[in-house]
Amino acid sequence: MIKLAPSILSADFARLLEDIKKVENAGCEYLHIDVMDGHFVPNITLGPGIVKSLRKDVDMVFDVHLMIENPDNYIQDFVNAGADIITVHQEACTHLHRTVQNIKSMGVKACVSLNPATPVETIKHVIDELDMVLIMTVNPGFGGQSFIEGMTDKIKEVRDLANERNLNIEIQVDGGMKPSNVHKAVAAGADVIVAGSAIFGSDDINKTVQEFRSNSVL
Ligand code: DX5
Ligand code: ZN
Repeated sequence: MIKLAPSILSADFARLLEDIKKVENAGCEYLHIDVMDGHFVPNITLGPGIVKSLRKDVDMVFDVHLMIENPDNYIQDFVNAGADIITVHQEACTHLHRTVQNIKSMGVKACVSLNPATPVETIKHVIDELDMVLIMTVNPGFGGQSFIEGMTDKIKEVRDLANERNLNIEIQVDGGMKPSNVHKAVAAGADVIVAGSAIFGSDDINKTVQEFRSNSVL
């Protein structure tokens, strides 16, 4: 069974809570919150204030994807705001192992993300400490881009490594995921699917959520 993580990047920010309630009612497990700083990625989104306001009204798991430089400076703020999972980018962390320990010491789950060009090798020495690995299937920064086909090999590489070491981790994929291609990521070993435009751009969110789930059965 996959978990679905709708990305609020593609929600209507003027009706944010209303849109989130649609995916919560559709049974989606994680709420994927994309935080962008205009430096690590060429786009700016939202900060801990919005996360804190949403926390009061939403029961989903808050999955906070930090696409920012110096993430260590902001982890505590997002945990205080109500994050359940904190994802940092390998490329943004000089002392990745220390950052992962910091996240875990705050009592939340730790995830590391890899940009498409970053090899799995770079997390080989921290993967044992992680709750989740996020494989970017587009270059981060924007919603609505196309899934990079070559990333299926990378998902498989992480799944093989996790199996080899008997690790109980989730593998999340983010970018260009649709009901029509979800089987490729799941077959490679993904179990948490982020979807922004495919879910929030749908005329019938319940139906799209069902399509994601039924197309994920291998
Ligand atoms: C991209 C973000 C994604 C984005 C996915 O930088 O990390 O979470 O919202 O959007 P879609 O599903 O439209 O590719
Ligand atoms: Zn994301």
